[in-house]
Amino acid sequence: MDGNGRWASKRFLPRVAGHKQGVDALKRIVSACPSRGISVLTVFAFSSENWSRPAEEVSGLMDILALALSREVPKLQRDGVQIRFVGARDNLSPRVKKGLEDAEAATAANTALTLNVCFNYGGRWDIVSAAAHLAAVGTLITEKSLSGALALAHCGDPDLLIRTGNEKRLSNFLLWQAAYTELYFSSLLWPDFDEPALDSALSEFRTRERRFGKTSDQIAGNVVSDA
Ligand code: FPP
Repeated sequence: MDGNGRWASKRFLPRVAGHKQGVDALKRIVSACPSRGISVLTVFAFSSENWSRPAEEVSGLMDILALALSREVPKLQRDGVQIRFVGARDNLSPRVKKGLEDAEAATAANTALTLNVCFNYGGRWDIVSAAAHLAAVGTLITEKSLSGALALAHCGDPDLLIRTGNEKRLSNFLLWQAAYTELYFSSLLWPDFDEPALDSALSEFRTRERRFGKTSDQIAGNVVSDA
């Protein structure tokens, strides 16, 4: 959800005002997903590296998250959204930790949309934690066992990854899971990302040929496999 800070700076507002606006954009996109056939939405809300931002911005983000959860969980309930937080919890404050746990427990039975909020998350953290866990329990590390030990093991790999704010990097997001994900870059700042912008991304996604290492002919079914 990149571009909140720039959205605020352009309006001579503090960066946290951009993050607040970012929550409104997230609410719009969450509401738009089920009618577009999207059953899993994963957003990057706070990275392992974001702790190094100014203290005022970090505490502002924690407050925004706590407030958004207390306000929005009843609506998530009504809309059948299951919220799950993905990331390390050990260095979060007891207030934030409890907010995450309560929101997850309240929405656990919902099935219309799974909303994964990556918070205090990093792709490298996830891979290292999963590998350390497998090593500790003595499980051989394979693609299958590692995938199953990752924090997003409850979902399939993402089909489409949208990066807003005109940045063209993964920035430690879904490093393992994005191996065959289609990447889409939007120059819109996240607070300006709306339903038409989502529809443009989905239209472009539909034009992509996903080969997963095969040839176009194989995908089209024109080649008889030797295997
Ligand atoms: C990146 O933009 C955005 C963030 C680091 C925070 C995103 C968090 C929210 C929208 C709030 C999350 C709340 C809930 C309920 C999930 P940036 O600050 O890097 O923007 P810039 O690139 O313009 O500086």
